[in-house]
Amino acid sequence: MMGLLALDALLLAALLLLVSAASQGSSRGTIPSTASLAGCSKTCGNLSFTYPFGIGAGCFRDPDFELICNNTTQPARLFLRDGDTEVLHDIGTTDTFSGSDGPDLRVAISHSRQMRSGVDVYNMSWRVPGRSFIGTRVIELSFIGCDFDIYLLDGVNSRELICTVNCPNDGIPESVAKQQCNGTGCCRSMFSRTVVSLELQFVRYDRGKSKTKGEMQHTNQSLLWDTIRVETYNMLLLWGIVLDRRNINCDAASNKTNYACVSDHSRCFDAYSGMSPSYQCMCHNGYAGNPYVADGCSRDRGYNPVEWKANCGRSCGNISIPFPFGLEEGCYARKQFQLRCFDMRSSGLALLSPLYDVIQQINISEGTIKTINRDEFSYAETQSIYAGSISTQELQWVVANLSCQEAQEDSATYACVSADSTCLGVSLKFSGYLGYRCRCLTGFHGNPYVRNGCQDINECETIPGICEGLCHNTIGAFYCTKCPHKTEYDANKMGCTPTNRQKSRLLLGIMIGLGVGFGVPLLGLSAVLIVLKWKRDEQKKQRRKYFRDNQGRGGHGTVYKGILADQRVVAIKSSKAIEQSEIDQFINEFQILELQG
Ligand SMILES: *[C@@H]1O[C@H](CO)[C@@H](O)[C@H](O)[C@H]1NC(C)=O
Ligand SMILES: *[C@@H]1O[C@H](CO)[C@@H](O)[C@H](O)[C@H]1NC(C)=O
Ligand SMILES: *[C@@H]1O[C@H](CO)[C@@H](O)[C@H](O)[C@H]1NC(C)=O
Ligand SMILES: *[C@@H]1O[C@H](CO)[C@@H](O)[C@H](O)[C@H]1NC(C)=O
Ligand SMILES: *[C@@H]1O[C@H](CO)[C@@H](O)[C@H](O)[C@H]1NC(C)=O
Ligand SMILES: *[C@@H]1O[C@H](CO)[C@@H](O)[C@H](O)[C@H]1NC(C)=O
Ligand SMILES: *[C@@H]1O[C@H](CO)[C@@H](O)[C@H](O)[C@H]1NC(C)=O
Ligand SMILES: *[C@@H]1O[C@H](CO)[C@@H](O)[C@H](O)[C@H]1NC(C)=O
Ligand SMILES: *[C@@H]1O[C@H](CO)[C@@H](O)[C@H](O)[C@H]1NC(C)=O
Ligand SMILES: *[C@@H]1O[C@H](CO)[C@@H](O)[C@H](O)[C@H]1NC(C)=O
Repeated sequence: MMGLLALDALLLAALLLLVSAASQGSSRGTIPSTASLAGCSKTCGNLSFTYPFGIGAGCFRDPDFELICNNTTQPARLFLRDGDTEVLHDIGTTDTFSGSDGPDLRVAISHSRQMRSGVDVYNMSWRVPGRSFIGTRVIELSFIGCDFDIYLLDGVNSRELICTVNCPNDGIPESVAKQQCNGTGCCRSMFSRTVVSLELQFVRYDRGKSKTKGEMQHTNQSLLWDTIRVETYNMLLLWGIVLDRRNINCDAASNKTNYACVSDHSRCFDAYSGMSPSYQCMCHNGYAGNPYVADGCSRDRGYNPVEWKANCGRSCGNISIPFPFGLEEGCYARKQFQLRCFDMRSSGLALLSPLYDVIQQINISEGTIKTINRDEFSYAETQSIYAGSISTQELQWVVANLSCQEAQEDSATYACVSADSTCLGVSLKFSGYLGYRCRCLTGFHGNPYVRNGCQDINECETIPGICEGLCHNTIGAFYCTKCPHKTEYDANKMGCTPTNRQKSRLLLGIMIGLGVGFGVPLLGLSAVLIVLKWKRDEQKKQRRKYFRDNQGRGGHGTVYKGILADQRVVAIKSSKAIEQSEIDQFINEFQILELQG
């Protein structure tokens, strides 16, 4: 057992840090607020992080949450305080509105150990960097090396063989080995458990002959023979605020000065996932942001109506991508509207965050997205501004979880920026109010999310036959007028056509026919009729003149003007004498009066 080597320096370091963690953090007593954290850096390389994590004094809650940014590489890399556990994703809080991760940290570790002549057994250990963390769910590790059995130690006595790597005598290049990772130069292991540490043991196995010196002589194949390395390719750490002995749950913790859930509209919930009793903070339903910061939880502020990048890509194959959606940063209005065009030729478009879903169509006027390959998981992930059912393969979306009134209060973030647009609250049958979106006013169409996006609809052109007469478009509306003189509406032609041209032609034909048939007798008869009509008209004229000459007193009695209750003007004539012979005349005068009225 000579020369056995332990990697316990790490463990020792972790223990030391544990002690300091127990003595609480630097920011104890002061309530962190946006103002007090203003000077703290929020990014490292392309990763962002938020309080309780931070870099530098006063920027993190307690030492467990101190981060290290190593900027000797490009991009810079972010590590937890052990300097060994690398953070791979943004560190968010429970901010569903911005689509960032919850209290899960996706991390990676990478350890390597140089082989030593005559040493066949190597121990390697890793420990979560503080009581605030716990390794959770599926842990996937890969091992790169040659001729080793790899064991996971569980306590002092039990060990479990999890993986074996072997190599051909000449070895293979590391890149090839890693690509396949099928047991030749590289092997993978996946196990599902909750851990605070990983204790691994690598045992070089005997290939029959003693190769204690032999493997050192493989020259080119190099590293595979000279080192054994462990890398994670999937590992999540859950984090929480650790409770001490006197404060055993949220209720008790909430009375203490170092209570973590300091934001208005935030609450605490107990987390039972780890070894240490701990709690997490969350913004109330309808609020989002950072519950660990005094003014951290607010109503949804995730929407930014300004498209600040020029020349944004607005299509993917034949799918158009209207704002507020977009591909590049500065081209979309909120994180959840970011898309990725993964195949321009076949129109492959997908939502980027928080769900990966293939999109067929984005409909601005309906507030929908047509998708394919929906599954329950992605549905659950989208529930802040998207809603939909698995069956319809259609998602409804809103721009923010705000009421129209709330949204309009802040003109800097209000989404309906086009003139002639309006706000529309969206409620769902089962889950209730979702948020608001915009629409163009009736009579307009286009994109209400961009300036001057709503354009007048020319109803006369787009809806032929909308008027039974002449159609006149106006901005936002239209009106109808009757067909002009001597024309009438033709439903087939959807327009005004000259009146009865066909009918009058037919009439003319009949006239000619009749003329030819009856000839002169008819003409004579017509002449007689015309003369009679002329005479009658002359009589009427005479009477009218006579009436006028009598100044409102008719020949057969006095005429009175009267106004009825409904403002109608009437003329009343009283007859002087009632003689049968004069009754006809009297009625005639009535007709005349009616004409004049
Ligand atoms: C490796 O770990 C095992 C089990 O914990 C232990 O028995 C052994 O002594 C360790 N070897 C070294 C070199 O520390
Ligand atoms: C950060 O940059 C690296 C390398 O450029 C990339 O692989 C990684 O996906 C980026 N991470 C994020 C969160 O953008
Ligand atoms: C940063 O990374 C480099 C190379 O990866 C390493 O040599 C260096 O020690 C790191 N610095 C810190 C402060 O961890
Ligand atoms: C790296 O960070 C240090 C301080 O944290 C800073 O002084 C230095 O300029 C940075 N280097 C680069 C290349 O960003
Ligand atoms: C494993 O991958 C190596 C390349 O890394 C390949 O040469 C070998 O044939 C593979 N073995 C099996 C069993 O697939
Ligand atoms: C070893 O390396 C040398 C130079 O790098 C190369 O020419 C030779 O082909 C390598 N041998 C093997 C077996 O890969
Ligand atoms: C915490 O304080 C509230 C009043 O502020 C009190 O009602 C409650 O009992 C206290 N809880 C504990 C566990 O001390
Ligand atoms: C878009 O292109 C795809 C494949 O190229 C085709 O299947 C689909 O019908 C097209 N959609 C429209 C609206 O043209
Ligand atoms: C949006 O949906 C409506 C109703 O289904 C449809 O008339 C319209 O053409 C769609 N718009 C786009 C851009 O697909
Ligand atoms: C949206 O806000 C309302 C309150 O205005 C709230 O009741 C609802 O739960 C919120 N929806 C989501 C998904 O947060």
